[in-house]
Amino acid sequence: MATIYQATASAPVNIAVIKYWGKRDTKLILPTNSSLSVTLDQDHLRSTTTARADASFEQDQLWLNGKVDEIKAGGRLATCIAEMKRLRKETVEAKDPNAPKLSSYKVHIASYNNFPTAAGLASSASGFAALVASLAQLYNLTVSPSILSLIARQGSGSACRSLFGGFVAWQMGSDPSGNDSLAVEVAPREHWPQMQALICVVSDDKKGTSSTSGMQRTVETSALLQHRIKHVVPERMAAISKAILARDFDTFATITMADSNQFHAVALDTEPPIFYMNDVSRSIIALIVEYNRVSIAAGGGYKAAYTYDAGPNAVIYALEENLKEILQLVISYFPQRPSEFKDVLGLFSKNTTDINTH
Ligand code: DP6
Repeated sequence: MATIYQATASAPVNIAVIKYWGKRDTKLILPTNSSLSVTLDQDHLRSTTTARADASFEQDQLWLNGKVDEIKAGGRLATCIAEMKRLRKETVEAKDPNAPKLSSYKVHIASYNNFPTAAGLASSASGFAALVASLAQLYNLTVSPSILSLIARQGSGSACRSLFGGFVAWQMGSDPSGNDSLAVEVAPREHWPQMQALICVVSDDKKGTSSTSGMQRTVETSALLQHRIKHVVPERMAAISKAILARDFDTFATITMADSNQFHAVALDTEPPIFYMNDVSRSIIALIVEYNRVSIAAGGGYKAAYTYDAGPNAVIYALEENLKEILQLVISYFPQRPSEFKDVLGLFSKNTTDINTH
């Protein structure tokens, strides 16, 4: 019987605390600034991908959540698949003449997100990371996650960070080839297991302006972005890495919220302006600001940090000891309103407990 070449891998979503927004090279997906994120380690919010190579396949093909998805020639998917085949050829087949020539076979790939793709949560990050991880397994590659991140990056910039768990930096690099624009681990998950993320799905409408087109409009028109990438992000990257290593939540929270604010400010500074947050998003900010103010006035420190990506949904980072209180606070101020505040997910790293208020 013929050997079956098949592998399955999964990758989680990551949520940036220093935002990637802007490309200096749109084809290679090279960013205008470094970024840093936390990879969520729950069982939900993951993409799981199975890849299979077979000499009888006539073309590369992808099924996304059970539906055929087109692989456009020269597109991001095609690039990632071609790059993975190149790695197989160069690092395995060139060295071992007996290794099956899988790089010459077409692949069939089936990918599933275990969260609603329409929920407004970045699925491209986990999706491309899982794609690259499954092909790496299929091809028996022994390369590091940073090397794989170079390829996931070409699928979707933020995907490069999902190749690692825990706290991850995407170093922007300076080489025009992109070979130094990769993800590195800042600290593993176990370094700060008390850190949790609470995701508040404010709206699951499909977002108006995609990250890809929005960020390029910002690059072309925003003067504030130029200030941000030169004078703000480098210091913040260093300071938040240090805060993570020291488990300093006050500094982590201050920088996280400032960076979310500045990202939304550069979106507003874009011509025409881009608005990602809505009234509910802004009310959650006000709530978290007040919650922290009361804690600090009582002699405590910061208890929560909000951050928003290219949409209205809030992600609140907090230490485990405060998570229940925050969840109760959010629920009491934002009782379920059908189209505005859909769902609250409490994400716990250890117990994988879903707190679903429906
Ligand atoms: C606001 O990675 O989705 O979430 O590289 O064009 O695919 P492309 O963009 P994408 O942008 C993510 C933007 C962000 C910030 C972040 O995750 O760092």
